[in-house]
Amino acid sequence: MRQKKVKYATKEILESYGVIVEPKRLELTDKSAFLEIGSGKGQFITKLALDNPNYIFIAMEVNINVCYRIMEKKEAMKLDNLLIILGDASFLNLYFDKDSIDGIYLNFSDPWPKAKHHKRRLTYPPFLKTYTELLKDDGFLQFRTDHPKLFLDSIDYIEPYFNIVDVNYELEASAYMTEYEIKKRAFGPIYQLIGKVEKHAKEGL
Ligand SMILES: C[S@@+](CC[C@H](N)C(=O)[O-])C[C@H]1O[C@@H](n2cnc3c(N)ncnc32)[C@H](O)[C@@H]1O
Repeated sequence: MRQKKVKYATKEILESYGVIVEPKRLELTDKSAFLEIGSGKGQFITKLALDNPNYIFIAMEVNINVCYRIMEKKEAMKLDNLLIILGDASFLNLYFDKDSIDGIYLNFSDPWPKAKHHKRRLTYPPFLKTYTELLKDDGFLQFRTDHPKLFLDSIDYIEPYFNIVDVNYELEASAYMTEYEIKKRAFGPIYQLIGKVEKHAKEGL
């Protein structure tokens, strides 16, 4: 979906608020670190960060206008434990060391319904391979969507890389919902799966 342009959303302004606007290696401490890719306006990750001050949360968002909204929330909520990356998931390797992340969240990722665009899906195999490399051995991937075809395709993509420990075809509302989830709940079920890293996938695929 096209996002409204935000007048003040420039790389310079975002950088002045501490947003990471160019790829650089993040030095994560020994605290647990959780990454959301395609955070949109940031409601989910900011709430998680607020409720879990002892963990590090990282929001990655490629669209500068919505990234600005995450930064506004971070400022308003005074979140010292939230890092924001203005960047593309295709370059995750430039930011993170292997085995450095405890969990990855994908919420309402763009469905890219046409076959010729499937490779842009954030659950497509090359992305999954990177996730398994960056996740710690007991790390998890949590994927949530309202799009049935994307969900079923993603189960097929994810199975070789992760041990799928939970599949839910009618997820209940919770305290941690994105802007999309709040809107989409009115129109039908929300799907979610959780996968745990499979050691052999890291070594072989
Ligand atoms: C459909 S929106 C959902 C936003 C939010 N997760 C929510 O549920 O409200 C998908 C978001 O993913 C972002 N996105 C898509 N591809 C991305 C990529 N390769 N790297 C980072 N963000 C991406 C888009 O800019 C958009 O904000």
